[in-house]
Amino acid sequence: MKLLIDDANIAKIKEISEFFPVDGVTTNPSILAKSGRPPFEVLSEIREFLGDKELHVQVISADAEGIMKEAAKITEVLGKETFIKIPVTREGLKAMKALSADGYKITATAIYTPMQAYLAARAGADYAAPYVNRIDNLGANGVESAMTMHDIFVNGGYKTEILAASFKNSQQVQALAAYGCGCATCAPDIIEGLIANPTVTYAVEAFKKDFEGLVGEGKTMLDC
Ligand code: G3P
Repeated sequence: MKLLIDDANIAKIKEISEFFPVDGVTTNPSILAKSGRPPFEVLSEIREFLGDKELHVQVISADAEGIMKEAAKITEVLGKETFIKIPVTREGLKAMKALSADGYKITATAIYTPMQAYLAARAGADYAAPYVNRIDNLGANGVESAMTMHDIFVNGGYKTEILAASFKNSQQVQALAAYGCGCATCAPDIIEGLIANPTVTYAVEAFKKDFEGLVGEGKTMLDC
């Protein structure tokens, strides 16, 4: 399962990328709003930092014509490899059909139901993004919904992969990794949380203390 950063803060993206094995960045209009900066200024910085790693950028227009014009602008500024995030609505599906036929990379988003994912796959989307925790908050089961969508893609022979989003804990990420989902995008604090474990910290400190007891304080394999 690929791991993406769901954020537009360039400092955070650089910090997470330094330590964690990440494959790119996803953004949405709310995430861009949090940056407080002109959208294409932020996105261009992210694109430059990422190199050939994945960047996913969402359209704002509600109508297919507007979505297609935005897709053209986004790829013109940020490169043809940029994934265009399109909400799975009636107009969104119309735009996906046209854009996928035209060779655009598409991430179908705002997915709350397996039937949205199915239609996105039929419309040629590369990724489908179920909002795991938001589905949980509706009283349904976000992880199970994402698994059902994954089954639809695998059993139906669609190229579309899950790009699960809206995580609030490690367990949600772990369940979808174990199930073989294609991709998860997580906020920086969720990525940090994937290895936050005081027992690990304790174990590593104990190893250091034992070794220093043998060869002296501050010593490592370099100077023992
Ligand atoms: O792009 C969708 C995803 O970022 C939503 O996450 O945390 O706002 O539910 P959240």
